[in-house]
Amino acid sequence: MIVPAPAVLEARPGEPVALPDDLDCQRTDGVAESYRLSVSADGVAFSASDDAGEARGRATLRQLGGTSGPLLIEDAPRYAWRGVMLDVARHFFGVDEVLRLIDLAALYKLNVLHLHLTDDQGWRIEIPDWPRLTTVGAETQVGGGAGGFLTLADYQRIVAHAAGHSITVVPEVDVPGHVNAALRAYPELWGRDAPEPFTTWSSPGHSLDVRSDVVMRWLDDVIRAIPGEHFHLGGDEVEGLAHQDYVQFMWDACSLVLERGKTPIVWEEAGVAKLPKGTVVQHWSDAKPARAAAEQGLPLIMSPAPHTYLDQKYDEETELGLTWAGAVEVRDAYEWDPERVIERAEVLGVEAALWTETTETRSDIDSMIFPRLLATAEIGWSGPGDWEDFRERLAAQGRLLSELGVDYHRSKQVEWSKS
Ligand code: ACM
Repeated sequence: MIVPAPAVLEARPGEPVALPDDLDCQRTDGVAESYRLSVSADGVAFSASDDAGEARGRATLRQLGGTSGPLLIEDAPRYAWRGVMLDVARHFFGVDEVLRLIDLAALYKLNVLHLHLTDDQGWRIEIPDWPRLTTVGAETQVGGGAGGFLTLADYQRIVAHAAGHSITVVPEVDVPGHVNAALRAYPELWGRDAPEPFTTWSSPGHSLDVRSDVVMRWLDDVIRAIPGEHFHLGGDEVEGLAHQDYVQFMWDACSLVLERGKTPIVWEEAGVAKLPKGTVVQHWSDAKPARAAAEQGLPLIMSPAPHTYLDQKYDEETELGLTWAGAVEVRDAYEWDPERVIERAEVLGVEAALWTETTETRSDIDSMIFPRLLATAEIGWSGPGDWEDFRERLAAQGRLLSELGVDYHRSKQVEWSKS
């Protein structure tokens, strides 16, 4: 939610009241992540259902900017899953950039950071039993630069920092396609010679040899090495595998994640396979497999590219970004309803995704993520609303983003001068 938003029950004119940073928060009954903030001449009262609710309330306080007229906010999230994805594989981004994104995501009440850790261009997470994944697989990136990777200690730091904001980190290891970096490190994973490094966009289209025993052993080691309650298996854009091999592999891989006590997540393509109960499916492009997943009774995370893909240009003048999903202006990021994307789906929540084929620097990341992420955040927290109302509240966030050093895209759809 960007304040003031629909959850503000009353906002009366009156003397500004100072909102102290260290305001005490009481615990009350309420749904997860909910909070209540009352500001009047008599004082300020702040309560929350849990630590996450307190974090969300403090985010609202921060957005209010220290002083506020009398108001009453009773606030709770529309969706349990409100995420942002960062691809650290196409271009590598390290701990500092990830921690900064967590801080900014927390300010807008997101609760999931999805890290796309592996792809054709690079493998970015240390796996102790398979050291070549990083000594060989991490050595380059799009454009041929040096690449890099997160040690497990780096990853633990990210997880701990996120937990401090009541944000869950979801690791993605993309299989059985998008694996060129892994195949360079361990050619036995596909039973052929090591492929050349892949440093352009798109994909060379290689796949794991999913019938080989070594693949499941390797995958099990990877699943166990990366901490967390979730494990995203990718499963998207697979080429060169027989349909039967693909569907069997996705079933086996999701079952393995479940056996390890974690929740498996897959991109929508895997919806064509029968998937074990407990699997979560992420929609991004094609309604057909997403619908097949929904018909299996599996919950969906909604990341429809024309609304949530932050790697797409805002308009034809945007320097960075791709265009395959069409331009994604701020209004496109805001004007959609997660309940109307896939009929009869159980919607777990929403997630915006930054793929980093064209983003190389902090400023690049900022301009692609902001302000569009605020639209996804509000859809996830409050549900769809009125564009004109959102546009005005968004304009007021420009000042805060500038103060925080965020080089956000000055979309022409928003009158930033007002802020
Ligand atoms: C995807 O964009 N290939 C999930």
